[in-house]
Amino acid sequence: MPQKMAILWTFALLCALLEATLVPATLSPPAELVLGPEVIKEKLTQELEDHGATTILQQLPLLSAVRNKPARGFPLLGGLVNSFLNYVIWLKVTSANILQLQLQPLTDDQGLLIKIPLDMVAGFNTPLVKTIMEFHMETEVQALVLVETSLNGSNNLILSSCASSRGSLHISLLNKVSFLANSLADKVTNLLVPALPQMVKKKLCPVIEEAFKDMYADFLKMAKAPISLSPGLLNFDLLSSTITGSSIQMDLQATLLDSQAKVTKWFNDSVVAPALPTLNSTLFSLAIRQDVVSAVVAAILPPEELLVLLDFVLPDLAHELKSRIKVINKTASDKLGPTQIVKIVTRKLPQLSLSQDDAKLAQRILLEVFATNKDVRPFFTLGIEANLAAQFYAEGDWLVLNFNDISFDRIRLMISDIGLFNPEVLTSILTKILYSSLLPNENGKLRPGIPISISKNLGYKTALWSVTQGALVLTPASA
Ligand SMILES: *[C@@H]1O[C@H](CO)[C@@H](O)[C@H](O)[C@H]1NC(C)=O
Ligand SMILES: *[C@@H]1O[C@H](CO)[C@@H](O)[C@H](O)[C@H]1NC(C)=O
Ligand SMILES: *[C@@H]1O[C@H](CO)[C@@H](O)[C@H](O)[C@H]1NC(C)=O
Ligand SMILES: *[C@@H]1O[C@H](CO)[C@@H](O)[C@H](O)[C@H]1NC(C)=O
Repeated sequence: MPQKMAILWTFALLCALLEATLVPATLSPPAELVLGPEVIKEKLTQELEDHGATTILQQLPLLSAVRNKPARGFPLLGGLVNSFLNYVIWLKVTSANILQLQLQPLTDDQGLLIKIPLDMVAGFNTPLVKTIMEFHMETEVQALVLVETSLNGSNNLILSSCASSRGSLHISLLNKVSFLANSLADKVTNLLVPALPQMVKKKLCPVIEEAFKDMYADFLKMAKAPISLSPGLLNFDLLSSTITGSSIQMDLQATLLDSQAKVTKWFNDSVVAPALPTLNSTLFSLAIRQDVVSAVVAAILPPEELLVLLDFVLPDLAHELKSRIKVINKTASDKLGPTQIVKIVTRKLPQLSLSQDDAKLAQRILLEVFATNKDVRPFFTLGIEANLAAQFYAEGDWLVLNFNDISFDRIRLMISDIGLFNPEVLTSILTKILYSSLLPNENGKLRPGIPISISKNLGYKTALWSVTQGALVLTPASA
């Protein structure tokens, strides 16, 4: 009985441990686009301008708002004010500016408050005074962006409320003229204090909402723009949008399509993949998970066979190979003719691994040496597990990958017609042969690069690609 108990306890403990390790493990999305506060502010400001926000402010119906707002409750007072207002024949905004937006994150990444300060000058004219009287009006609109979770569990961002608070409103008279005009101005001010926030809410808030929607749709469009590979396509789609600090974070799923537009690979959220780096940029960053980058490279570099006429293209290396083989089997080395061939077959899908220190592609290679171009049987067949050192860089909007070194993890003799030998003795010469044949061949395929225009679309000319643990990261080059 106690033994059974112990087993049960162990089981319970194991479950608890499993849960403890499983629960906090966050899902790692295939890619993540983070749009920082500076990008949001700049883009929203532009959208507000495109939607004519300042024009709308200039057309705020101040006069009718003030006239339609007779002081309630006190008929006598109301009448008095209204009769004052009859002296105002012209009242409108003469200049309007939207000042620098501010973003304020809500605690626990629940939302983002966008503060839009408005600065306006309004003029009014009355026959009582010859000059136009001017008010300086300052107020702030606050729009709240929230994460909305839809029924299917996907998150989106919405502008949930928008208002201009009375507390943020300051109205001051710019010119003081006469006692009579001043007291009339006071009356107008008193009426504007409640009327202006309402007018702003009614006229400007719908525009802010549209501007936000368009900005968000634009960000989405950039994130989802298909990336053409040769051959095939890489597509990103939205998994969820959230707010982290003052940034918008879009988690993306990825699909890889072949040249017939058929999906060949699907990348979803994963618990096993390493978490994407937490990036903290005020601008933007795009992180692509290592397995996605790996599949992209594999799509560009499908398995293939390369025949190298060694003595013609690399005579020095042919000479060196001959002398190495001579040590193994003299008869065989004598047979090596001017038409000797090194056959290189790349096998399986290469695997890319990324870390702070390096990026390397693990590639399996079959290598055979034929004495002449007439031979059908090779001297030997070697299985090589090679590592290609990779380097990522930006060329305009293009991501370019280039291999600049090769080393062997393992080299195995699979078949030999020239007797058994330790293939390690060929490591040095074969490394040189692959460096001079396979690398230029693969680099040639990679040379055109992969067009990724997010940086340009966000208005940054120079992009920087860097490698971190388990991911490839794009950031603007200069802040
Ligand atoms: C989830 O629903 C929203 C609308 O509520 C829709 O826009 C989105 O495409 C849906 N996502 C999925 C994965 O079905
Ligand atoms: C990824 O998700 C999609 C839709 O949610 C599903 O159809 C597909 O099978 C998933 N792929 C993998 C590899 O889990
Ligand atoms: C991001 O960096 C800024 C300034 O470098 C810092 O104030 C802020 O706390 C950082 N945020 C996070 C989430 O690390
Ligand atoms: C040396 O190579 C030749 C083929 O060129 C082969 O016939 C011979 O058996 C090899 N010698 C040994 C000792 O394996």
